Order: sequence, then structure tokens, then C-alpha cells
Amino acid sequence: MVYAAILGYGTVGSGIFEVLRTNQKIIDQRLGKALRVKYVLDLREFPGDPVEEVLVHDFDTILSDPEVEIVAEAMGGIGAAYTFVKKALEAGKNVCTSNEALVAEYGVELMEIARSKNRSFLFEASCGGGIPIIRALNESLTADVVDEISGILNGTTNYMLWKMETEGCEFAEVLKEAQAKGYAEADPTADVEGHDACRKIAILSSLAYGKFVNYKEVYTEGITKITPADIAYAKKLGRKIRLLATSRRTGDTCYAMVSPFLVGDGNPLYGVNDVFNAIFVHGNMLGDAMFYGSGAGKLPTASAVSADIVEIAAHLHESLRSDWTSEKMPLQEIDQVTGRFFVRVKGVSDEEIRAVFGPTDLITIEEVEDEYGFVTMPMKQGDYKNKAAMLGSRVVSMIRMKD
Ligand code: HSE
Repeated sequence: MVYAAILGYGTVGSGIFEVLRTNQKIIDQRLGKALRVKYVLDLREFPGDPVEEVLVHDFDTILSDPEVEIVAEAMGGIGAAYTFVKKALEAGKNVCTSNEALVAEYGVELMEIARSKNRSFLFEASCGGGIPIIRALNESLTADVVDEISGILNGTTNYMLWKMETEGCEFAEVLKEAQAKGYAEADPTADVEGHDACRKIAILSSLAYGKFVNYKEVYTEGITKITPADIAYAKKLGRKIRLLATSRRTGDTCYAMVSPFLVGDGNPLYGVNDVFNAIFVHGNMLGDAMFYGSGAGKLPTASAVSADIVEIAAHLHESLRSDWTSEKMPLQEIDQVTGRFFVRVKGVSDEEIRAVFGPTDLITIEEVEDEYGFVTMPMKQGDYKNKAAMLGSRVVSMIRMKD
């Protein structure tokens, strides 16, 4: 018998409990031994819920029970979650989590404790919800040098952009709808400002490149400034606006950023709608691969955490492999990154646009008067900034092109 404990009986915690109960038979068959949840930790009571049989209110009950060999953290945040996870690892227990904030902030330290104890700290559900991207990076793409990861890593913002595109709504209106559907939190900042996607791309880049990418150094823009006029321009360009988290390695360095991009129909991310996530990976031998699926939500996330529990149960006394080391990955200045930019300007003559940015086709849409949109030639972001500064406040907005 292998015993696990779940910390937190909220959306994800109750989902893990449900997955392990619903699929108990097949999981036991696959493992060749019984896997059971011995405790669920939560401060609340859940009268009438099957969790009552295993509900505890004191973390020390779990910590001091030598029979508990796996702890699944589903509390969220980086306060008590960090304290409990660290204590569990130090006590020689294996830990898994869906908490991207915890992994991005303390992943290096927690993985080192796990390694020193010959135990595992797994976090499949922290990026891409139910999509098995971390296992793919750790175990499947081990013969490749991964040099690019670009993805839609936040379901809430993808849903919002898709709704703006299909229904022509304003950002504020679609945010309310996303909140009503339970996709966006009451405080939607982490999603709409790109912080959630930023932490996820930092985690994936650290795993893929084997060095620590600090999320605090990742250039991040959210979707709060996207308007229906931007969507109309995107349609005219035959593109869609998507919040992409992207990183690319060149030699010993990489760049990583989160920002809205105009994605063309030749790109596999173009077709990713609704709350889905997708992660595009390029390997030097593999070429292109894309991982697509449910990136958030109770059962998809719980499915990934439960898979970590099962994986650990099969390897209780070893440290499962991951190339992520504590060595810091130097990040390229974002100003040095080359791209093309879609720019909207108001009150600027076409001669002036061409004098500053060079030859370009000017685009207009019915929705807005007295302005042009245009796509620049490839240039470094720093050069774009200098050119845009020459037009000052007459630049209405800029969105990056995904080539
Ligand atoms: N809020 C996230 C999303 C899910 O919308 O993708 C949790 O990582």
C-alpha cells in the first residue's frame, strides 16, 4: 500500500481526490499496488462529502505519519504552501504540486532538497494544466536540444481574446463574462497582466534549457490594452491576437517574453481557441512539435497532479530526473530581440511613416478614422523603440508579429 496526502480541498485538491477515487482500480492495476489517500488537509469542514473520512486540520498529522510517502500540494500561493512543501521534503516525503507560483519562486530550492533526500518534487500541472508537457521535456525530448518554446499558457486570456474576436466585445465586458464562467479570478491581475504565463514560460524554459530562468527577468505584457480596433486590424491582416509566452535559446543565452502577438494562419497556435492551451516546441533534431489540450480547470489539472502521484508511487525512493539546475540562465536584453511590429499611428502623414520606418503598406479599417496601421521590416526591439519615439504620442499602439 502507498499512502498519499492532499493539501487543500479547493478546486484542484477536490479534483485530485476525485481522480484517484474514480480511477482507483486502473491506477492500482498499473502500479501493481494499492494507492490510497490517507489524509486531506483543509481548515474547513465538508459535511456529507466523502472527504470527511480522511479530512484533517493539522499539517503535523501528515508530516509525522511515516506511512505518508507522497504529498500533493493544492493550496495555491507561496505562503503556507511553501512552508508545508519544504517541511514535507525535508521529512523525506515526495511532493507534487500544480502551483506555478511556488515552482517559479522556489522550484530550484525545493528540487535541491528533494534530490538531497533522494525523493522527487514534481509539478506537471503547473504549466499547461492537463497537457503532459513537463514529462515530455524531462523524459521524451532527452535526445534533442530544445531551442524554442512558444505557447498559449493561459486559458483565461485565450478565452477572452477569442471572445473579443468572435463577438466583437470590449475587454471589460469579456472579462466580466470570463469571471462569471469561473475562468477568471475575482482579482484577474495574474492572468490578464501576463504574470501567470510569465511564471509558466520561466518554468518550461528552465526545464528545457537546464538552467534557472528567473521569471522576474522575463519581459511581460498582458492583454489589458487590446481593443476591438486591434482585433479588426488583426482580421484585416488575416491574423489573430494571442497572448504568447515565448522563449528561444541561442548558444548559452536565451530570451523569454510574454506579450500579445499577431499570429498568422500558418502558425499552429493560430487555431487555438477558447480556454485551450498549446505549447509549440522546436528541437534541433525533432523539428516542430505541438502539445495541445485543456490548460486549466479542475479535472484536467487534477489529472496531471494525479499522474505525478502515480509516477512517484512507482519510484518512491528515487529522485525522478529533471535537467533543471540552479545555474542561472542569462537572459538577452529584450531590446536586442529582432521581430516585426504592427504599429497604429494617428495624425501622421504616410511620408513621415515611411521616412521613419522605411517602405511599408498602410492599412486602414472602417472602425477608426484618421489613423493607419502598418507592419515594420524586421528590426531589433530597441530600434523599433527609437523610431517610435520619433513619432511620440502619435503612436496609438504596437503589437508584435509572430513570424
Ligand atoms: N489561471 C490559469 C489559466 C490557470 O487561466 O490558465 C491556472 O494556472
